[in-house]
Amino acid sequence: MAAQINPSILSADFARLADEARAVEGADWLHVDVMDNHFVPNLTLGVPVVESLARATDTPLDCHLMIEAPDRWAPQYVEAGASSVTFHVEAAAAPVRLAREIRAKGARASMALKPATPIEPYEDLLPELDMLLIMTVEPGFGGQAFLDIMLPKIRRTRELISKHGLELWLQVDGGVSASTIERCADAGADVFVAGSAVYGASDPAEAVRALRNQAEGATAKASWACDH
Ligand code: DX5
Ligand code: ZN
Repeated sequence: MAAQINPSILSADFARLADEARAVEGADWLHVDVMDNHFVPNLTLGVPVVESLARATDTPLDCHLMIEAPDRWAPQYVEAGASSVTFHVEAAAAPVRLAREIRAKGARASMALKPATPIEPYEDLLPELDMLLIMTVEPGFGGQAFLDIMLPKIRRTRELISKHGLELWLQVDGGVSASTIERCADAGADVFVAGSAVYGASDPAEAVRALRNQAEGATAKASWACDH
């Protein structure tokens, strides 16, 4: 699969979301960070904004729910128009049931791990998911420094995906930029969220293209991709 770049609108101008979505035409997905001020110490947007944004853009929405009680709220984001919904395993009461519900409603189901959450306990759950998100910063804010210490977890997760022959996408989120994206791709990531690196650039659409080129160059040289 080609590398996918998902600009995070957390770094966009929230008063001009439709324009900001158009500014990254050519992106694979728009990454929408939903924060409830409980699971993370920040508050962003909810179902009504996702509904409006889904009507305003043809780019599919990748909703990253940094909220408590995702079992209760995640299905509403599918109904609002999200094509992929990510819940945090640390907050989910019943991750298998929730992933099945998201899929049954017609969206891709994705599960996120905070930096201190290991992948190993969830090996048996991977077939229930369409994507796994490894956070490369503590969730809550854009513009933080990439955590290099997450690279071994990305590598181990890619090994599990290969071992089980899964079609699971492996997303990284947090501090992904021109100076870190190649390390992520080399370790095994294939979906890259970038907020400040895209919306902080003078030409966001060009930043998306440049990041994709870098990721694809690094993937072509990566040992995990050569095995395929
Ligand atoms: C952080 C969010 C990220 C954020 C990334 O909790 O989940 O999606 O927007 O921003 P950058 O790319 O600036 O680290
Ligand atoms: Zn995010």
